[in-house]
Amino acid sequence: MSTNNLNDMSFFDAQTSFEPEDILAAMPGDHPRMSSALALGRQASESGQLDVAALSRIVNELYAEGFPAGSPFADGAKVPSTASLSHVADDSTLPKPAVSPTTSQSPSTFSGFANGTQAPSALSDLSALQLQYAANASNAQDFGNTSGLPDLGFGQSLGGLAIPYENELQQLLGVTSHSQAGVHSAGSTQPNTSHFYFLQDSPFNQTQALPAAAHPPFDANLVRKDFPILGELVNGRPLIWLDNAATTQKPQAVIDRISYFYQHENSNIHRAAHELAARATDAYEEARETVRRFINAPSVDNVIFVRGTTEAINLVAKSWGKKNLSAGDEILITHLEHHANIVPWQQLCQETGAKLKVAPVDDSGQVLLSEYQKLLTPRVKLVSFTQVSNALGTVTPAAEMIQMAHRAGAKVLLDGAQSVSHMRTDVQALNPDFFVFSGHKVFGPTGIGALYGKPELLNDMPAWQGGGNMIQDVTFDKTVYHEAPSKFEAGTGNIADAVGLGAALEYVERIGIDNIARYEHELLVYATAALNKVPGLRLIGTAKEKASVLSFTLEGFKSEEVGAALNKEGIAVRSGHHCAQPILRRFGLETTVRPSLAFYNTYAEIDVLVNALLRLSSNKLPSNIH
Ligand SMILES: Cc1ncc(COP(=O)(O)O)c(C=O)c1O
Repeated sequence: MSTNNLNDMSFFDAQTSFEPEDILAAMPGDHPRMSSALALGRQASESGQLDVAALSRIVNELYAEGFPAGSPFADGAKVPSTASLSHVADDSTLPKPAVSPTTSQSPSTFSGFANGTQAPSALSDLSALQLQYAANASNAQDFGNTSGLPDLGFGQSLGGLAIPYENELQQLLGVTSHSQAGVHSAGSTQPNTSHFYFLQDSPFNQTQALPAAAHPPFDANLVRKDFPILGELVNGRPLIWLDNAATTQKPQAVIDRISYFYQHENSNIHRAAHELAARATDAYEEARETVRRFINAPSVDNVIFVRGTTEAINLVAKSWGKKNLSAGDEILITHLEHHANIVPWQQLCQETGAKLKVAPVDDSGQVLLSEYQKLLTPRVKLVSFTQVSNALGTVTPAAEMIQMAHRAGAKVLLDGAQSVSHMRTDVQALNPDFFVFSGHKVFGPTGIGALYGKPELLNDMPAWQGGGNMIQDVTFDKTVYHEAPSKFEAGTGNIADAVGLGAALEYVERIGIDNIARYEHELLVYATAALNKVPGLRLIGTAKEKASVLSFTLEGFKSEEVGAALNKEGIAVRSGHHCAQPILRRFGLETTVRPSLAFYNTYAEIDVLVNALLRLSSNKLPSNIH
């Protein structure tokens, strides 16, 4: 089947009848899957019952075969039959994309279908990518075929004539119209105004999260429109951003908020009686309140702005650690840790004579709790571990591990760098003594993050840097410090980006972190099953509890080669050691390829990734990079 003829609208011109069968008969070439989709649509409109699983399969098959035209796979190079995701989709082990009746975040309810059957998100994924291709194709010369939009052709006005079942098919495919869809033009310099209706309020005066019940159903294709960079072309292909564990993309709300700050509020904070100082101070302190609310800290005094996770851990090591550790004491970490949660403790051990101990993981990449328990001797003064591994995606049993550490008399630092964007954070429920995260990993700016600390610890900790902003009084003899948080925020901070971080967290609150967690979990399950079908691909990190990360090796290829090959197809993944060398070495590896997910990723993007890997593994990549 050639999918290119889906581009060609001219066959409709010859139509005198608009019965589906006649339209199909008039289509050049063979369109078995479109026939099936049409038949399903018709059945659904007649019976009020949509066979969601069958429809998902059709969409996957269309995608696997290179739909939409103009995609990396539709340029004449036939996708090898082994590359078809239909094999994956037919497999009963493959979870169907977001069609679970229990998933409240699944997208639209079909108004045309009486029983309120939910649309599988793969359909809207398909239509979004299809629309994105359409937008890109009309802007990018190198898409070649711009004679017709790479569109199924439904929902288009055909010389002013409506086609039968148009509405059903529009709903089926999640297509409204190109103009309504608001897909960004690649390279557009126009700011993208959010089309997400519940994000339309000014982000600048929001200090309260919407109640959970106010969250609308989650639709990845709608939220994508809030991220202008997702409309970029990379190597002539729509960008597929799967490097979210390294950093996340920023919604327009964040970009606008930072811009607004510099246009209307910019000033240094806390120390002037003029209007702009008051505006900037208010904005900065409101952002602190947003962080407090987001992680459910008891007070804003527990929230210290820092550059990010790395700086937060260093702060604790250099302040609390230096004061509280001495020779004979132990710091316990796990084998999963990022270098940022290893090196500062090594430095502290060198300075104090304390020892660093490491809790091992099993072959799936999960912490061995029995071994962890054994290592929790009375000598352990601090346990520091990650809630989600950046290299494997393991979600550690944080609550249990914190309780165990506390029972042993140790304090706990929980590294939330990889967890804050994927799951609810409640520092009062989890009860770590310190919690740290980076703004750039939760859709906020770089250079800003937060350290949460329990008040009794923060008040007892010495300042780790000295300067302005953190003092009550200075003479040449002595300095009187502010209480936390100011005590730990010496000098002029990253004011604008703190405000941007506040906007990012409010954005996440409006979407609903629980919606995000559910959607991403389904996407991860789908991606795991699909990647497992790629010959020679070995997933590293198979813990039962995982978030976001899909680390793998591909037989016959270096990680960098896979990364470079995917980049040629517009797909951004990380390849390397991910600043977590010890855990990769635990699996006998120096590097892996690491796609990592965020809520704006789609099933269709996973399919594009898997297709590229299938072709690479069967040595049929057009670019022939190796
Ligand atoms: C688990 C974990 N901890 C710490 C860090 C360090 O974060 P940052 O570089 O933002 O300070 C990262 C970054 O990838 C991470 O994944």
